[in-house]
Amino acid sequence: MEAEEALRDYETNVNMMDVPFYGPKPQKGVNIVHINPKSIYTDPYLRQVDITFQQEGDFIYSSDKRKVLAGTVAKRDQDKRNLNTLIRTAHFFTPDSDVAFPMLSEGTQKVWMTVEPLEINTHDSRAKKIKGNVLYLGAGLGYSVFRSAADQGVKSIDIVELSPDVKKLCEDQVIGKMPNGDKVKNFFVGDAISFISNEDLSAYNSVDLDIYRDTQGMIVPYLKTLPLEEKYPKTNFSYWIEGNFYVDLQTEILAIIRQMILRPGDSIGGLGYSHGIGMLAKCLVEEANAVINNREDLSNFISFNNLRDLTKDFAINNPSGVKKIECEMERIAQQRRIQQMFSNMNFVYIKELADQLPIPGSLEDTGQKTEELTDAILHYLMGGDEFTVAPEGTNGTDFGNNGLSFTKKPSK
Ligand SMILES: C[S@@+](CC[C@H](N)C(=O)[O-])C[C@H]1O[C@@H](n2cnc3c(N)ncnc32)[C@H](O)[C@@H]1O
Repeated sequence: MEAEEALRDYETNVNMMDVPFYGPKPQKGVNIVHINPKSIYTDPYLRQVDITFQQEGDFIYSSDKRKVLAGTVAKRDQDKRNLNTLIRTAHFFTPDSDVAFPMLSEGTQKVWMTVEPLEINTHDSRAKKIKGNVLYLGAGLGYSVFRSAADQGVKSIDIVELSPDVKKLCEDQVIGKMPNGDKVKNFFVGDAISFISNEDLSAYNSVDLDIYRDTQGMIVPYLKTLPLEEKYPKTNFSYWIEGNFYVDLQTEILAIIRQMILRPGDSIGGLGYSHGIGMLAKCLVEEANAVINNREDLSNFISFNNLRDLTKDFAINNPSGVKKIECEMERIAQQRRIQQMFSNMNFVYIKELADQLPIPGSLEDTGQKTEELTDAILHYLMGGDEFTVAPEGTNGTDFGNNGLSFTKKPSK
């Protein structure tokens, strides 16, 4: 099936109710590529590592659970934003026959890792930094470890993984069998953030952080790791989906700026669709003292490098701000756990009772649409003639864990 057909298929068959909507959606002919599964399977891990079903505790390795059906659309790489148009673009692929990928899941709900184009591409883009004596935070499917072991520039590998079950799975199925497995010197079980905060990291040339499933889960470990870049200036730190993190932060900042333009004097709001990142956005805008008079100022302010510097300063100089974000993320996680508990219960919904419960409004308040805010900002700053507003739907599909398939409507 051709990419454009796949896109039509996507638009007509995706059950919109099943996926939370934020982030960009595929645009015709722009950011969706047609991939022959054979080319995906040239990846050395997919060619050489034979993941079979294995369960340890709550954790499962399997090779056929994560499927992308022929003609459907899944994420291929990190999102980007064009700083002139402010449009956010995502990258998608569609295979011409069904593909199935290895997967690490925890229980029935949580997918920690799959090895598919998104993972392959995001590994490739940070692999150039991962050299010498390497510390991997988060074992997952051992994908990064496998790729690094094959890299001549990598001398030794240590791993920190929270779950002893994942350690066992990874040793049984990947490290114990892979060429150059002896490059793995230490496989520690424990919390990665405690490890890097308490141990001396100066012997590592590279530290790679990947203990989260999306940018929301990333914010706290990321803010806690950034200050170590100053403590260990000779070590290269890399972070899975760091690019996406800043695209999300830009979205939140654009929403705040839009509000400051349209409703000056109001307290700073924002989209609030990504809670922790929204909080960070507010703090950065409040602290920045930035003067924005034109498009160039705006582009400079929200550029990756500027936001990264501001975020790092915040992580270093504002531990109480970091703590607040951490508490908020814990509150949300708690709320989700409770929701999950209730979703397993069989109870009658009594609206009057629900209204009395001391729980704040909807968790999934998605706020304004990205295209509205880019539109408004650019009209304000530029007069609005010389740019194209994001084509229909800069809103889109969040594929959650590395591009989990959306559900198709059952055919009648
Ligand atoms: C996304 S996966 C890592 C994928 C890995 N980079 C790969 O290439 O397969 C995240 C891993 O981090 C682990 N993890 C989660 N929280 C952790 C923590 N606080 N400390 C250490 N590991 C953690 C999970 O159990 C999971 O194995």
